Amino acid sequence: MNLEADFNTTIERDQRIEPRDWMPEGYRKTMIRQVAQHAHSEIIGMQPEGDWITRAPSLRRKAILLAKVQDEAGHGLYLYSAAETLGADRTDLTERLIEGRQKYSSIFNYPTLTFADVGVIGWLVDGAAICNQVPLCRSSYGPYARAMIRICKEESFHQRQGYELLMTMMRGTQAQRDMVQDATNRWWWPSLMMFGPPDAESTNTAQSMAWKIKRHTNDELRQRFVDMSVPQAEKLGVTLPDPDMKWNAERGHYDFGEIDWAHFKEVVSGNGPCNEVRLTRRRKAHEDGQWVRDAAAAYAAKHKEAAA
Ligand SMILES: [Fe+2]
Ligand SMILES: [Fe+2]
Repeated sequence: MNLEADFNTTIERDQRIEPRDWMPEGYRKTMIRQVAQHAHSEIIGMQPEGDWITRAPSLRRKAILLAKVQDEAGHGLYLYSAAETLGADRTDLTERLIEGRQKYSSIFNYPTLTFADVGVIGWLVDGAAICNQVPLCRSSYGPYARAMIRICKEESFHQRQGYELLMTMMRGTQAQRDMVQDATNRWWWPSLMMFGPPDAESTNTAQSMAWKIKRHTNDELRQRFVDMSVPQAEKLGVTLPDPDMKWNAERGHYDFGEIDWAHFKEVVSGNGPCNEVRLTRRRKAHEDGQWVRDAAAAYAAKHKEAAA
């Protein structure tokens, strides 16, 4: 009883829960699920843009893209470490991912058709990730909140590099401007889906808000993202593919059109354009890395023996 009261007081006072602290099983499970899904998303998220590293149009663009994709690997690794502080096992989490038993963000199940996709992913996908993740810097679980501070700084770099790339393309030829518009058309709606189902259908939101794992609802964050993106699109000179997008002076927000949730559910349940490709490649990378894990384990065992 005391342990539970301590936990509740910590949450009430906006202090952090640390790995050594007692926590309800539901809280631990929810945190593991959230942190693992986030980690998986960072790792799978390397693939769509990674496809363009060998085809980047200049050495400068290649260096920037390499750095960005490498950052995403780093984010995945911090987050797997954060999940381990909750008692999760990294090998088990990886197995859950490659066997399709644990999810990653559906946004990474779309193909990157042109180099403009690299820019639009930075602008919209990393932009949406920032909207989602900045409030998580105040999440109640300490290791997750602290990892998020560093991740958000790097995500800001990602967002700017994407926007800068698009600005450059928009100052280029008509063909380049068309590529930017086409990529914007394809990524806009999936980006809005990144915030998850509407509040009315989001089953975990209320409990996660009570535990201060989550600070804002899906719809609040989605609105924030829309309000942020409209002026950015105007400055860039592209049109967002939504005829219902309109400033609502009364609400002080942009109204926007209906999201195709049936499509979202299809992609979540494995039927997006690239679900199979992403998992197959992740599985192969895991198998190809077996010798590295074996060597590391043998090395550790040898040193443990020598120390004994
Ligand atoms: Fe990331
Ligand atoms: Fe990123």
